[in-house]
Amino acid sequence: MHRLGRMRKDVFMVTGFRYGNPIETGAVVASPVFTNQIPAEWTLNQEEGTLSCTLKDEDIVYGLGETVRGINKRGWLYISANADEPFHLEDKHSLYASQNFLMISAPGKGAYAVFVDTPGYVRFDVGYTKGSELVITIQEKSANLYFFNADSCKKIVHGLRGLTGPSYIPPKWAFGYGQSRWSYENEEQVRKVVDDYDAAGIALDSVYLDIDYMDNYKDFTVDEEKFPNFPQFVEEMKQRGIHLVPIIDAGVKIEEGYDVYEEGVAKDLFVKKADGSNQIAAVWPGKVHFPDFLKPEAREWFGGKYKVLLDQGIDGFWNDMNEPAIFYIQDQLDDIFKKIEDYKGMNLDIKTFFEFKSLVGQMDRDPSVYESFYHNVNGEMVRHDKVHNVYGFNMTRAAGEAFERLSPDKRILMFSRSSYIGMHRYGGLWEGDNRSWWSHLLLNLQQQPALNMCGFLYSGADIGGFLADTTEDLLMRWFGVGLFTPLMRNHAEKDSRRQELTAFEHTAEFADLVALRYSLLPYIYSEFMKAALHDEMYISPLAFEYPDDERAAYVEDQVMVGESLMIAPVYTQNAQGRYVYLPERMKMLRMRSPEDFDEEIMEKGEYYVSAALNEVLVFLREGHVLPLAERADRSFEVDYDNLRWISFEGDPTKYELYNDDGETPIKR
Ligand code: GLC
Repeated sequence: MHRLGRMRKDVFMVTGFRYGNPIETGAVVASPVFTNQIPAEWTLNQEEGTLSCTLKDEDIVYGLGETVRGINKRGWLYISANADEPFHLEDKHSLYASQNFLMISAPGKGAYAVFVDTPGYVRFDVGYTKGSELVITIQEKSANLYFFNADSCKKIVHGLRGLTGPSYIPPKWAFGYGQSRWSYENEEQVRKVVDDYDAAGIALDSVYLDIDYMDNYKDFTVDEEKFPNFPQFVEEMKQRGIHLVPIIDAGVKIEEGYDVYEEGVAKDLFVKKADGSNQIAAVWPGKVHFPDFLKPEAREWFGGKYKVLLDQGIDGFWNDMNEPAIFYIQDQLDDIFKKIEDYKGMNLDIKTFFEFKSLVGQMDRDPSVYESFYHNVNGEMVRHDKVHNVYGFNMTRAAGEAFERLSPDKRILMFSRSSYIGMHRYGGLWEGDNRSWWSHLLLNLQQQPALNMCGFLYSGADIGGFLADTTEDLLMRWFGVGLFTPLMRNHAEKDSRRQELTAFEHTAEFADLVALRYSLLPYIYSEFMKAALHDEMYISPLAFEYPDDERAAYVEDQVMVGESLMIAPVYTQNAQGRYVYLPERMKMLRMRSPEDFDEEIMEKGEYYVSAALNEVLVFLREGHVLPLAERADRSFEVDYDNLRWISFEGDPTKYELYNDDGETPIKR
């Protein structure tokens, strides 16, 4: 077993170009060379605010982190404008995150890339308007542009991490299975989830608390009627090996007597309107103020509030609604009520009917409201839309910085919905409000390598889908991906069908699949930690491992997981299996449980492979090994002393198995 130090090579193939007068985002931690030259591949039109390059037919464009569509981003328009977007459909341009990093490569060729570091809106027209052109439009006409060039994609990823800092490392228990649902109202309901899992013999490490645990949706409060003795309940769960993970929202309820609200007003730490008064917006609790996370004092203050829950035994959180998501702002609402008056008595026709309908119908998620929010950036009033994409990042930074002070000896789980490159140093992310759709199972797979490139190693999607009713087969097939994502959480919306694994007919099969996760944990944790400590990727596209393989380069539905494995999930309803491309000789493991799987050696090539509903397709590379632990009910019970080694002509003694106490923070 090894303890690895951080092998950080500070030599990276990057040059910087300062375009305009950019507001610093905090994404970059190293100091690259700034030249006044743009690399030959790129053209910067400073007047238009565009950076463009020509795409050859065979070029693949990687990156952009959490976005719609495939691993190869060609053929669509992506807009970095963090949005509370619960419809992750192909026709969308923006989701919750902005990872402004793009990398271009073709089979057998080197790679070049750019990180457009700006807190404002950016459009990435990746061969959408014209197939052979990549055009990046920077709204503020200001950005720090970082250009990369190397003989491989892997090296560029390493270089980006050198520039933006190392990836967040969660506690080891956060690699266990987590159960969540918006609506666990009280102690009894949470206890029942754990009882049901234990009774069904399904391993579990955490239960998530959604907004229902709070007193009237007020951050850092607990509803005392539903949780009469919260610290005692947290301890009761801990005794059973279960971590409770509460949600924290960005908006602070406006309510006299609520300390967070009163302190924020007294210390002048909330986002403003143009007239300097505190902006009033609304989210779950109704009217709220938003902390001005761009202000260091506000970060320090808000971050300090997590102590309220840490002191009650909590050791993990998820930050939500931090794009920020908004139902309405007060001025907009007043205006709507006035306009509605004008429509009274009118003959609503084709024009006026739709205008009238949209007055209320399009009130929430209206990005124009951001134009009336102001931040204090280094003493200057800056309109929100100019710094929009770093708001969620700074909320999570507030938490991450606070944990370093408040919990210096213990890692705290933290992941966020909104994000920007740089946030990967403070927390992970989940992929937001997906749906119980088969296409979102595939999207989950495709977002993983893109997120890993940008440093977001600790990530995952709501397994089974958040919105809409799941089906047992979808949930079971989702394990084909979810078994391998560092964050493995089943989460569902309150009005959807129950989605706990215990709510279905084939509980025993689910128990076996979750057992497989615990059995794979020594491998998953090792590979994750090595990626985090060496600035590499944990999940990557096939092309990064097989850069000369023309077929592998365009595979969109298989990924590499760590050094030994390739996975190929089934993502179509009622399919009996799927086509798989093997870029080299591999040993196929058709896995049903830690004890029950078939092994078959297959030559390089294309195959149709059958997979029953409860079977996960895993491929072991030649010359590699896979450690498997025995079943465990909790992550801390995983027994590293009794590992079984599956080998395909590999040598277990050569495998770098990483382990640690899973808790002590790792200084890098
Ligand atoms: C948001 C989150 C979701 C959560 C819900 C209620 O939609 O994305 O995960 O359950 O809010 O807090």
